[in-house]
Formats: sequence, structure tokens, C-alpha cells
Amino acid sequence: MKFFVDTADVAAIAELNDLGMVDGVTTNPSLILKSGRDIIEVTKEICSIVSGPVSAEVVALTADEMIAEGRKLAAIAPNIAVKVPLTWDGLKTCKVLSGEGFMVNVTLCFSTNQALLAAKAGATFISPFVGRLDDINLDGMELIADIRQVYDNYDFETQILAASIRSANHASQCALIGADVMTAPPSVIKAMANHILTDKGLDQFMKDWAKTGQKII
Ligand code: E4P
Repeated sequence: MKFFVDTADVAAIAELNDLGMVDGVTTNPSLILKSGRDIIEVTKEICSIVSGPVSAEVVALTADEMIAEGRKLAAIAPNIAVKVPLTWDGLKTCKVLSGEGFMVNVTLCFSTNQALLAAKAGATFISPFVGRLDDINLDGMELIADIRQVYDNYDFETQILAASIRSANHASQCALIGADVMTAPPSVIKAMANHILTDKGLDQFMKDWAKTGQKII
């Protein structure tokens, strides 16, 4: 499973990238707001750090305007994936931009039918939002499994980019189901390293080591 980092925080991206943990990046208007930076500038900087796909989201609502915005975002760097919402106009935009050879990430997906439409419109990535479905007491992970089955049934090439990943548990479940990609905030990727028995075991080793009175260096 590929790891995309869900942030526009350049320092956090660079730290994880140095560890080989970054296959791509996703941003959205809320994350751009959080960064406090200009969308074009910050996206350009991210693309200079990460060689994999970097999603930059359009903010227009009509297809013509989304297409124009998408072309401008795609001109930032060759590894831009234009992110469009899963609306009818977003699907039209997806068809046009993917036909022009750009990567397209169709976002705000909450159903299998929406994922089917995105695949037929030529999406490179479909972004089903796990956490936001869990937030309303639906099963976000069930949607990832259902889309996996539907895409496999018909050999769709659109990659399942599990989004709105809020916990390390979400990450492992996505990997078990076979999501192609998951995008998670840096804090969740770091939390994947944690285990209470690792902490407990290390604590015991440190105590026993101190009792030996030895040093390695
Ligand atoms: C990424 O593509 C999505 O915009 C993001 O994962 C949404 O996450 P959230 O539901 O935690 O805001």
C-alpha cells in the first residue's frame, strides 16, 4: 500500500520523505488554510520535495471553471494530480483532464456508485472518506472493501486512495482490504510505530541493562 501524506505542512512532509514514508501528498482547501500559505507557492514547494503524485484541489463548482483551474494547478509540476469533487461537474472535469493526460483524484466519495462513476470517467484515484463516514455512525471501512470488490470485478485501473484516515487502526484495515493508497496526517503515520508492548519491553530492557553496569560505547 502506498502512503500519501495528508497535509500542506512542508516540514512534516520533508521529515517523513527523508524516511522513505512518502509516496505522494494530498491537500485540500482546509489544509491550505491551515498552512497559511499561497496554494500555488506551497504546492510548488511540496512538488520539489516529493516525486510522487501531489493532489491539489480545484475550488470552482462548474465544469468549465474547474477545468480551467485544473489546468493551472497541473502546470505547477508534472506530478500534480488535480483533485475534483464527486459532483456531476467534477466527473465532467475528470473526463476532460484525464483525456488531456493529467492525473485526476476524485474526492469526497461516500458510496460505491460514486466510485463506479469516477472510474468510468477515467479517474486516476478515487478518494473514499473513511473517517467522515465513521463520524456519522456508518462503516467507512466497509466502503473501501466494497469499492475494492467492484473495481476488481471489472478490472478498473482507478486506484483506491483511502482518505480521511484518522487512526493507525484505519491504516492497517486499509492494507488488509487492499486499498492501493492511504492518505493520512503525519501524526497517524507516526502513530503506526506505537505498541504498548514495545514500550513495556524497552523499559524492561533498559532497567536490566542498567543493572549490568556495561556500556556499548
Ligand atoms: C484527503 O484527500 C482528504 O481531503 C482528507 O483525507 C480528509 O480528511 P478529514 O476527513 O480528516 O478532514
